[in-house]
Amino acid sequence: MTWSDYQGEIYRRGREDGTLPLWACNMLELEQRAIDTLDSAARGYIAASAGNGRTARANRDAFEDWAITPRMLRGVSAPDTSTVIHGRSLPAPLALAPVGVQSLAHPDAEQATARAAQSTGIPYSHSLAATVSFEEIALAAPASTRWAQLYWIRDPETVSSFLARAASAGFDTLILTVDTPVLGWRPTDLDRAFLPFAEGIGIANYTSDAGYMSRARATITTEGADIAPRYWERVFPHASLDWAEAATLRSMWDGTLLIKGIQHPDDAQRGLDVGFDGIIVSNHGGRQIDSAIGSLRALPAIRTAVGPDVPILFDSGLRTGVDLFTAIALGANAGMLGRAFLYGLALGGEEGVEHVIRSVMSEFELTMMLAGAHTVADITPELLSRVDPGPHGGRERRE
Ligand code: FNR
Ligand code: LAC
Repeated sequence: MTWSDYQGEIYRRGREDGTLPLWACNMLELEQRAIDTLDSAARGYIAASAGNGRTARANRDAFEDWAITPRMLRGVSAPDTSTVIHGRSLPAPLALAPVGVQSLAHPDAEQATARAAQSTGIPYSHSLAATVSFEEIALAAPASTRWAQLYWIRDPETVSSFLARAASAGFDTLILTVDTPVLGWRPTDLDRAFLPFAEGIGIANYTSDAGYMSRARATITTEGADIAPRYWERVFPHASLDWAEAATLRSMWDGTLLIKGIQHPDDAQRGLDVGFDGIIVSNHGGRQIDSAIGSLRALPAIRTAVGPDVPILFDSGLRTGVDLFTAIALGANAGMLGRAFLYGLALGGEEGVEHVIRSVMSEFELTMMLAGAHTVADITPELLSRVDPGPHGGRERRE
């Protein structure tokens, strides 16, 4: 089976019994429909970003800087979408980004996402801010490729416990997220005074940790206090985290180690110097700093800085198969879906996430065929042209 069989399947079902796809096949339309179904707190938390939303807009606009210049008659009858990340072969240059608090989108939450990742063969990243634990994911999707994401909280025993639990629950890759030592200024959530963790939503990995709970009980002694979220408020912010402390992670984790939230080439190089195996170029979907560089614009310089052999994953603004193609052409080995899959989850649970993955990958594979790329390695900058907004906002080719 190829990814783009999904296209034929959709047309066939329509022809045979008039069945139409349950959800939009245009991922931006699907996004809008999903947003419309969410209640206002969930909509704010999921869809809104830091400050005035400039970074989130820049993330999308950055894709508009580039156009594909397809090459013809290269005979691409069986495109190979597989890719290798740090010695591991993946069926697609795609993974799911760690996204917390998925119960805000759908009651089946992270378990549904992990099952959709399992059925499509795409790696599932488990956010530390999930609404279920590492162990529950291993039970829900035992055959999934599982990556775990860490926030380095100011409770070293709990950090060690998280790493041990993730390893024994079959997570083979650890992602350290470094762009969130504190949460950014998020006006939409602030206007509603809505912070899920403070209400005990999205701290399942913590509450399932006996050591965390006993330290929470010892620290939060106020009568009647909701100790787990109150302790979370104390330990989550870790603004003193620095390169020296991050370097100690290498001796604490045997598997692949990725550093997420990198936007500057020197930080990418520094990450490799302190023992990370790969880089995730990301600005957290514009949720942290307002007016930060669009993530795709940061990517080419990072690839140049680290050279051709270091695994680079990319997220922030990626919505479609063509976006994935563009990110790969600019130097990523793989892309990560964040909100894009979450909107599928909101609309259709596990099947909704599957629909998004299959749609993105079908379009990606068809684009390989249409643009003349036999393999992921064939997706190079030569297949892209830079476009500039003209004086009146139109687009014109520069090269
Ligand atoms: C996130 N993201 C995130 N990242 C992370 O490392 N740990 C986390 O717990 C979360 N939680 C989270 C919740 C929600 C609701 C969103 C939307 C995002 C960031 C995520 O991994 C990814 O970087 C962004 O989602 C990418 O941007 P787009 O493509 O979603 O716009
Ligand atoms: C967020 C945190 C949890 O972006 O990563 O909401």
